[in-house]
Formats: sequence, structure tokens, C-alpha cells
Amino acid sequence: MWLAELSLSGFRNLREQNLEFDQRANLLFGPNGGGKTNLLEAIAVLASGRSFRTIQDSQMLGFEAPHFRIAGKAKSQTHRTYNARVYYSPAERKHYFLDKKEISKRTLFSGWLPVSVFLLDDRRMISGPPAQRRAFLDDAVGKISRTYRFLMHEFHRVLAQRNALLKRNSTAEEFGVWEERMAELAADIWQRRGEYWKKFNSHFVEMSRRFLPQNELRLEYLQSVTADYLTALERGRETDRRFSHTRLGPHRDDFRILLNARPLRSFGSYGQQRMAALTLALAEAETALSAGRQPIYLMDDVAAELDNVNTKLLFDLASAKGQLFYAAAQPPRVDGKRFHVKAGKIKPV
Ligand SMILES: Nc1ncnc2c1ncn2[C@@H]1O[C@H](COP(=O)(O)OP(=O)(O)OP(=O)(O)O)[C@@H](O)[C@H]1O
Ligand SMILES: [Mg+2]
Repeated sequence: MWLAELSLSGFRNLREQNLEFDQRANLLFGPNGGGKTNLLEAIAVLASGRSFRTIQDSQMLGFEAPHFRIAGKAKSQTHRTYNARVYYSPAERKHYFLDKKEISKRTLFSGWLPVSVFLLDDRRMISGPPAQRRAFLDDAVGKISRTYRFLMHEFHRVLAQRNALLKRNSTAEEFGVWEERMAELAADIWQRRGEYWKKFNSHFVEMSRRFLPQNELRLEYLQSVTADYLTALERGRETDRRFSHTRLGPHRDDFRILLNARPLRSFGSYGQQRMAALTLALAEAETALSAGRQPIYLMDDVAAELDNVNTKLLFDLASAKGQLFYAAAQPPRVDGKRFHVKAGKIKPV
């Protein structure tokens, strides 16, 4: 899939405008503060309903704007077109539309357009809290499996029910009903995640050999439950009650990266951590691609991390395998449609 058109209003500093993109490479350049990252952010919000910069939607609203609207037209390899729209106002919150139909939940909307995000100095995935890695993984699996999106959505609904039980004087029967449903869903979720992880892991190893050839990088999945989940839930009730939430389950798993067999977050240099973060995003895009979903690469100034050889490697890879959006103060010396971005105005040049 590739993003052919975008229309914006009320989003950050970006003017109201309509844009047409190239199927392969789009290069955004211009002065600091012009709006390059804002444009990448708008595309990410259109694809997943959420920003890579903030969890507060109100921050994305233009200073003087009553609401924002991001609308896009995407085309598939089979020339099918998709129209999507994200709307936000402080009173109405966010609304998602796909081909004119409103989608009620972000988790169900996210991933209709398979976007992979590469940010400058993005070490959050390495040193940040587990919630970020889980969101990354859930988005990644969700991109190639609608069923997974439904399962996660349903699991969180049931989890909220159990958490509510923990806060009052509930009976074993009440717990039993929800826990059984949780265990059913969790088994399905772990199964699908496991399948995804196998492919993702091998792409990660392949990409890390290409971009960090001097080091051995490895991924390790950290599962919060190793015994039978239903039994673990039942045994955990008393402790969970004290914490007022469910401590075990697919919503608590994590993963880590090992650099030469040691945790990267503790022993890796900043440069190695940044490269590993890029490798995660690359592996994610590769996995989407091998599942038949051509990725859209959003890259914000990442060449600043790389030497010329790796930069060329990355550009070639992205524009050969999917659609690239690349932002930097100076346009790189590669082919593509160029856009000059200044004071919120994006002009093809
Ligand atoms: N909610 C908002 N409403 C209006 N303007 C905003 C909002 N949030 C941020 N801005 C403005 O957007 C500009 C930053 O845009 P952006 O981060 O996209 O710049 P950039 O082109 O990526 O710059 P750089 O090259 O420095 O990374 C700033 O001038 C900032 O004040
Ligand atoms: Mg920027």
C-alpha cells in the first residue's frame, strides 16, 4: 500500500493543504521548525490513530484551530483505493473513518496503513518502559492480522472486568467466569504473537548483521506467565487484589535486546542503542512485507545516525520495498519527489 494523497487542516503548525505523494520516495526538507516532523506525525496519526511524539491529542491541535482533520487516500498493489480520515476536537475527541465508515476504537483502526516509524535518537524502545515495547509489538502484529486486533481489544475489555472485581468483594464464581474467558483469549494471543515473533526475530537478526556487522544482537521475549495461565490467575487473586490490577498476562509481557549476550540497555553505547532501535523498525517493516503488506517508512533525520554506506543502504531498501517519507534539514542526494517545508507550508519543488 502507498499513500497517494493527504489533506490537512488544523494539525500543529501545518497550513490547510492538499498534497500528492510519490509512490517510492518523498523527501521533505527545509528549516528547523518548518513542520517536517509534524507532517510525518500527521501520517502516523492517519495510519494508527496515535502519535509517536505525544499521548495527548490536544497537543497536536493547531494553536488557533477548533479541530484537526487528516484525510488520506491510499492505493494498494491491486489498485484498490482506501480513504481514511482522523478527526479531533477537544469536545468530540478523536474519530476514525475508513471508507466512510466510522471505526469505533483506535485499536481496530490502527494498522489499516502499514507505517513503520524511524526517529532520530529513538532509544525509547530500548531504555523506555515495557509499555512502549508492548505497544510496538501489538501494533506490529495488528498490522498483519485483523484478528489479532480484535483479540487484543476483547482481551482488554475482559481484563477491565476482572480488574473491577479485584476492587470489590467478589466471589470465586464471578472471578471464574472472566478468568476462563481471559485464558481462552490469551492462548490465542500468545499463539499469534509467537508466530509473529519467530519471523520478526529472524528479520531482526538479518538486519542487524547488515547494519551492525561488528556486533551480535539478539532478541529475547520475556513472557510474564510460564505456567498454566488459568491456574496462575486463580492463585494470583489475593496478590492482585492488593495491587488492584492483574499482574500476569499478555498485557504484561516484554522483550529485550542482547548485545554480545548482555542487555543492550545496560551495556550498549548510545550509538549502538540507536542503531538497534532502527533495526527494530526495519525488522518490523520486513515482517509486514513478508506478510504481503508493503510498508510505508517514515524516517525523521535518521541519516544523522548513519555513515554514508548505511544511509545509502537504508534509502535503497526503503524505496525498493515500500514508500519512503524522509525528513531532514538538507535533502539527501537520492532520487525522489522533493518537498520544501517552511512555516507550515509544504511545497513540491
Ligand atoms: N499544536 C501546535 N500548533 C501550532 N504549532 C505547533 C504546534 N505544536 C508544535 N508547533 C510548531 O511546529 C513547529 C515544529 O515543527 P516540526 O517539529 O515539524 O519542525 P521540523 O521541520 O521537523 O524542524 P527540525 O528540522 O528542527 O526537526 C514549531 O515551530 C512549533 O512551535
Ligand atoms: Mg523535525
